[in-house]
Amino acid sequence: MGLIKTLRSVASFSVPTLSRRKRRFNRAANIADLRLIAQARLPRGIFDYIDGGAEDEITMACNSSDFAKYEFVPRILRNVADISTTTTFLGRALETPIIFSPTGFTRIAHSQGELSVARVAAKHQSPYCLSTLSTRSIEEVAQVSNGPKWFQVYVWRDREMLKDMLSRAEQCGYEAIMLTVDTAVLGRRERDVRRGFTLPPTLGPGTIIDGITHPSWTWDFIRHEPITFSNIKASSDNKNGTAVTLSAFIAEQFDQSLSWDDIEWFRAHWKGPIILKGIQSVADATEAVAHGIDAIAVSNHGGRQLDRSPSPISLIAPIANAISGAVPIICDGGIRRGADIVTALSQGATACTMGRSYLYGLGAAGEQGVERAYDMLVEEMRRTMALCGVRTIAEIDPTLTTYHHRS
Ligand SMILES: Cc1cc2nc3c(=O)[nH]c(=O)nc-3n(C[C@H](O)[C@H](O)[C@H](O)COP(=O)(O)O)c2cc1C
Repeated sequence: MGLIKTLRSVASFSVPTLSRRKRRFNRAANIADLRLIAQARLPRGIFDYIDGGAEDEITMACNSSDFAKYEFVPRILRNVADISTTTTFLGRALETPIIFSPTGFTRIAHSQGELSVARVAAKHQSPYCLSTLSTRSIEEVAQVSNGPKWFQVYVWRDREMLKDMLSRAEQCGYEAIMLTVDTAVLGRRERDVRRGFTLPPTLGPGTIIDGITHPSWTWDFIRHEPITFSNIKASSDNKNGTAVTLSAFIAEQFDQSLSWDDIEWFRAHWKGPIILKGIQSVADATEAVAHGIDAIAVSNHGGRQLDRSPSPISLIAPIANAISGAVPIICDGGIRRGADIVTALSQGATACTMGRSYLYGLGAAGEQGVERAYDMLVEEMRRTMALCGVRTIAEIDPTLTTYHHRS
């Protein structure tokens, strides 16, 4: 009798979940766990397209690992009963300093793609930046999101098409553009080279076997309309362009002659704020301010472009010191923990953007996974703030972290 009573007091039974993936998802503790679930669900070529970086992936690894070089200087007995993560960016009130980076071809991770990401971002009134190379159009995303929206553009040769996309974004209420400037030529992502992976993926014996061995992804993929570069399709003369023909067109569009003069062109064709994405040096941050840029994103494209470029976190303090608050600074790259965000803010960032963290969530479990990724980062951020003795974003200052090179 006593034994049964004792067992009852500690037993907690819930209906078992049959799907192994769902069980893993329910138990996921952090972004790294979401990554592993995405890895199991996605065909290998697709997982590597998302997960991989340029050449030796040194920069990609350092983007995350460099956060550990900063140590917190926690303060105690500070009454952290009420933590607030609210902040502002370019005059907009935000629930948290977490922003969604643009990622191309997002429906490759899950059929809902950009719509899922935009919906989660809107739910939290967090800015979502739609990629030029998205697989849902400017208009489709605007229909599902009443949250702040930004549009990412490249300096492309076809200025008429750019003009058309900018005016569509303006009409749909996008508030800012992110001009990505680290892509004069495409970085070489060697995992894709080895697997023969292209965008869009081509069908061959390898991809077919990959598809068969990842049935959950394949079932989702074949039940939905084909994936294509929706924005380009809507803007180009080639309205019925398949992803294959459009990707050949895109490859020709990257303009190697891009220069600071091009900023003037964007100024003339976009009334709202311009955020320059791809700043990788103090000198260029200063130059961006001199050119009247409204905000900068310190970014190396998640380590997908120039390998051996510096990690964003290592540049935040030097850049913040050089531009002394002239424009907001985004730390983009390697964010996998709420503690990373607190570190970046203490070094001088105004906000952080995440790319792969939400893509891992999307690849693991669709929209639910994106929501989970966002929630994990917010929860970790709040806990880190409480344990550090800071209650508000304004209280996160340079005294909160010290540089501590761990070998
Ligand atoms: C699969 C994938 C696709 C991306 N596509 C774009 C893009 O179309 N335009 C762009 O400016 N950046 C793109 N990026 C870079 C992200 O915007 C962001 O800079 C990067 O993911 C940040 O690093 P993180 O993934 O470690 O958070 C892409 C990144 C990934 C992982």
